[in-house]
Amino acid sequence: MHREITKGVYYVGVDDHHTELFENLWSLPFGVSYNSYLIVDEKIAVVEGVKGPWTEEWLNNIREIVDPSKIDYIIVNHMEPDHTSSLPEFAKIAPNATMVYTPKASPMQKSFYDVPLKEMIVEDLEELKLGSKTLKFVHAPFLHWPETMMTYIVEDEILLSCDAFGSFGALNGKHFDDEFDLRLVEKESRRYVSAIITSYFKFVQRALAKVTELGIGIKVIAPSHGPIYRNNPMWIVGKYNEWTSPELEKYCTIVYGTMYGYSHRLAIKLKKELLELGVEVKLHNVSYSDMSAIITDSVRASVLVVGTPTYDAYPYPKVWSFVNEVQGKRFPVDTVALFGTFGWGGGGVKKLQKMFTDMKKEILEPIIRVKARASEEESQQIKELAKTIAGRIK
Ligand SMILES: Cc1cc2nc3c(=O)[nH]c(=O)nc-3n(C[C@H](O)[C@H](O)[C@H](O)COP(=O)(O)O)c2cc1C
Ligand SMILES: [Fe+2]
Ligand SMILES: [Fe+2]
Repeated sequence: MHREITKGVYYVGVDDHHTELFENLWSLPFGVSYNSYLIVDEKIAVVEGVKGPWTEEWLNNIREIVDPSKIDYIIVNHMEPDHTSSLPEFAKIAPNATMVYTPKASPMQKSFYDVPLKEMIVEDLEELKLGSKTLKFVHAPFLHWPETMMTYIVEDEILLSCDAFGSFGALNGKHFDDEFDLRLVEKESRRYVSAIITSYFKFVQRALAKVTELGIGIKVIAPSHGPIYRNNPMWIVGKYNEWTSPELEKYCTIVYGTMYGYSHRLAIKLKKELLELGVEVKLHNVSYSDMSAIITDSVRASVLVVGTPTYDAYPYPKVWSFVNEVQGKRFPVDTVALFGTFGWGGGGVKKLQKMFTDMKKEILEPIIRVKARASEEESQQIKELAKTIAGRIK
């Protein structure tokens, strides 16, 4: 099924209700869409492909408008296989098409697929005339891969923004921001940004500044996942700006693991003390919360508290794996606090302490280590830690 965006520009993407985890990591309770855009002019261009198994459905969407073998250009904004694993099949159907991408995308394409199509390498701000419509290519490195660009349809003022401004969630026949409940879109796009782009917040900010400096009009933002913004494109720009801003948010997030409830008791004690001091608290038990939800709620917290039982002399595996995300995603969080419990020799909190020290995060005192049940003195330490945290957030 296709949808006209404006004269000569069509949505021809597909919904994926099959993949359970995006990148085999992030849950997709509402599915995801692989957006693709067809531009019909004297020359025919398609911007973005889809994930391999959806190739036939994508080509059929195109067939509703033109014969895909007539396509002159396939514009690849970004080489990640969720948009490009359809390329080998596409090359068989549209053997005269030229692939258009950035210099860095070229060796990537060859190493991923090496399809037998001509290629056209475009520099930053280079233009390609299709007839009455002109495409302008805006390089956007590390959004979220090194070779990424956006494609701008000059006359229609449509920005095909690649993964930037994208969202999880299938479209289900709705395509535009004015057809969705934006509260759900807000949740799913923030989770998307936090899961996919957290390591590259700076590059989102750079791309936003670049598009602003170009001074181009933007009537429509059409990302490669999620809704197309035609009613209020600045809504999603504002949200992305906010979600990637280096300024941290004024709350404390507690992320902890527990097997038999001892660490859990510390977590809720700390939460209670913080609430009494007027601190906003978000709390996640790593065994119950989805990792993408934990990341969304912790990535920009003023203070991140991590709690763990000791498990075979190490942190609880799921806590350990969260802390790996903190490191790998280069969380902008700069202040952390730690607590944990142990049964005999301990080691969980010590290893977390080392990891956060290596990440150059400030670790607030006291660091709380409890042998199973908290004593009166240790409960006092929790009160003390809550006060320190409150002092940092206020
Ligand atoms: C599978 C397993 C492995 C553990 N390994 C250690 C360990 O290596 N060192 C230690 O001091 N305690 C170890 N413990 C004890 C726990 O750290 C301790 O009981 C802790 O208080 C449990 O907290 P929880 O109830 O929040 O899970 C282990 C417990 C379990 C169940
Ligand atoms: Fe991507
Ligand atoms: Fe993508």
